[in-house]
Amino acid sequence: HRHVDHATPEAIAEVVASGDFHPRIPDYQGFDAYRAEGGYRVLLELRAGGDWKAVQEKILSAGLRGLGGAGFPSGKKWEFVRANPGPRYLAVNGDEGEPGTFKDRYYLERTPHLMLEGMLIAAWAVEAERCFIYMRDEYPAVLEILRREIAALEAAGIVPPGHVELRRGAGAYICGEESAMLESIEGKRGLPRLRPPYVAQVGLWGQPTLVHNVETLHWVARICREGPEILNSVERNGRRGLRSYSVSGRVARPGVYLLPAGSTIRDIIDAAGGMAPGHEFKAYQPGGPSSGILPASLDDVPLDFDTLQPHGSFIGSAAVVVLSDKDSVRAAALNMLRFFESESCGQCTPCRVGCEKAVKLMQAESWDRETLGDLAQVMADASICGLGQAAPNPILLTMKHFPDEV
Ligand code: NAI
Ligand code: SF4
Repeated sequence: HRHVDHATPEAIAEVVASGDFHPRIPDYQGFDAYRAEGGYRVLLELRAGGDWKAVQEKILSAGLRGLGGAGFPSGKKWEFVRANPGPRYLAVNGDEGEPGTFKDRYYLERTPHLMLEGMLIAAWAVEAERCFIYMRDEYPAVLEILRREIAALEAAGIVPPGHVELRRGAGAYICGEESAMLESIEGKRGLPRLRPPYVAQVGLWGQPTLVHNVETLHWVARICREGPEILNSVERNGRRGLRSYSVSGRVARPGVYLLPAGSTIRDIIDAAGGMAPGHEFKAYQPGGPSSGILPASLDDVPLDFDTLQPHGSFIGSAAVVVLSDKDSVRAAALNMLRFFESESCGQCTPCRVGCEKAVKLMQAESWDRETLGDLAQVMADASICGLGQAAPNPILLTMKHFPDEV
């Protein structure tokens, strides 16, 4: 779309008249097209007399796990939420803030109704009275698509007016932490809550709340329509299922790649067209900055939930960033800690002060390994939420695998 510098009123009027202005809405599958291919049939059948336990069984046997990054078994959450008396709510986490992650945007800009139907199936399963979609404001096209398509659902009588509410995030990374997101939806500052209690017990306005990531719900709809086999029949390297890897960095074709969950970094680089010309594979971030940076020598590990724990890392939301011989791992790790320092909500000392101190220590010509190691331990042990607990990972993994650089 067109960008106009130093726009005159005439130039602005011309762009507005052309309709080609921000946000540019990509071609996507709208309500009518989705209905025409059988969309919402499952939801309407379930509402007419389905058994939530049978649906849960499908989701569990598919092996669907939370795709925001934590990998908690999705069907299990339904049970925890249902165990608490209503009113219950559902909140969709669309605050995709993990650097390198863009899969939720990818799906919402193409097939938004898969997420919407998945959300309504999950809401039906836990008897949620209302749904809130928390969407990051940096995705203006997605916000517009969702506005239109929620209106289409209301017009078709699939949801009563006001049943699904779209909320805009305002750019704070921490508001993607589920309890901070709920605070933000409640209209407060996004500070993570201590847990337990889990949001399944005490969520929005103190009520049991089912929180799912966008992509998790996309798969709920697909599993219900196409069967659990779409995930559990795929096998590679002893792992089952599919992962949507957001791939960026020094590859020829960055993008979202849906691959078997047992894929290694070599498989992922191959899918992305190989390394960018002139670059030699050196290191990679497997799942967001909190997963740290791993060396190219660890190129035979399946990048799935649970497989990276022995290496002090995790797959998270599968935000793979590939680094090359032209990159400094030390500089990348410092950049990650600067990000955490800037995004820390500041309510607990180990994270607020720890990130700040870590950035200072990492700027020294040679890193003070002992002090950084102590700091990392305190942050991991004593921070309230995942941000502070995982922030030291880039420090620890860089010291372990790239000692020459630090
Ligand atoms: P977690 O493992 O603490 O929780 C995961 C989910 O399971 C939550 O919904 C939690 O409420 C639920 N849960 C866990 N134990 C439970 C229990 N006993 N009873 C009821 N519910 C329970 O992980 P967390 O802190 O929510 O997420 C961390 C992940 O988030 C990281 O792996 C990171 O990769 C990812 N992340 C993703 C981002 C993105 O943009 N997609 C941004 C930042 C982090
Ligand atoms: Fe806030 Fe960091 Fe504490 Fe999380 S760990 S509550 S982001 S200060």
